[in-house]
Amino acid sequence: LTIVESAAPEQSTPKRAVIVAIAEPARAAAWRERLAALLPDYTVVDDTEPTPADRVRYAMVWKPRRGFFGAYPQLRAILSIGAGVEDILSDPMLPQGIAIVRMIDDALTVGMREYVLLHVLRYHRRQPELEAAQQERRWQPIDAGTAAERRVGIMGLGVLGCDGARHLSSLGFKVAGWKRKPAAIDGIEVFAGREGLDAFLARTQILVCLLPLTAATRELIDAEFLKKLPRGACVINASRGECLVENALLAAIDSGHIAGATLDVFAREPLPPDHPFWTHPKITITPHIASLTALESGARHIAAAIADLEADRVPLGLVSRGNGY
Ligand code: GLV
Repeated sequence: LTIVESAAPEQSTPKRAVIVAIAEPARAAAWRERLAALLPDYTVVDDTEPTPADRVRYAMVWKPRRGFFGAYPQLRAILSIGAGVEDILSDPMLPQGIAIVRMIDDALTVGMREYVLLHVLRYHRRQPELEAAQQERRWQPIDAGTAAERRVGIMGLGVLGCDGARHLSSLGFKVAGWKRKPAAIDGIEVFAGREGLDAFLARTQILVCLLPLTAATRELIDAEFLKKLPRGACVINASRGECLVENALLAAIDSGHIAGATLDVFAREPLPPDHPFWTHPKITITPHIASLTALESGARHIAAAIADLEADRVPLGLVSRGNGY
């Protein structure tokens, strides 16, 4: 999606444009319409429409095709409709020196909160074992213990990770977080960097991955990593499939070390029909729906970011290219 600024009626200068690049046409149309209503000074265009390239000032994108940005010499910023920006940062034609803004949206935060609470509670209450017993008509009471006895570990303490950690804490779970650099977060024990990873894993019974995909997090969850979790731990991945080595997870589950996994994201999406995850009794999969950006609030975030950039203010969600998120 490209936003193009169009001419104000009283002048002959054409408006600048915001270009929208989203592969699904219905979704692209909905975003164009919402943004156009919020950005009267711009023409909001689709990347499939012929648009003078030098008019395009902002690009609003989701999984843009490789090289997309190279076509727009006047681009001021790239606005992602998702929280993850690895597809933008890895584009070989990404212009230097322009801002990249990731999505920060209340609906996205609440959606992830619900997903994390749902699946942590499901493992905490040992619901998969109850479901297996039901399949066999087995009356099998299980005392799951209380949340205060359950140690949950969240990897990635950004907007989504901190929110999930806070809500799990308020249910009484013992919550720790792991991030790149040390930080003090109320009510959450924070482990940092490679130095803090082993201790974080050793105390974590339910692991939730909300990490951005960067060179440092790609395939972080491998065989060695999984071994450092206590026997019987469960893994929830709602960030990026590439943070996890799929075969290592399968082996760790099949050996009995890892009790189960809930995965929303995969190295290949859609997950191929012959993938072993589909039918594995200890794996729950969801089709990358843990949390979705809402059109209304998401478009407001983008309009606010454009207003901030035009006024030389730092927009919410400004990405650090060095950090990769
Ligand atoms: C979804 O995966 C996102 O990055 O928002």
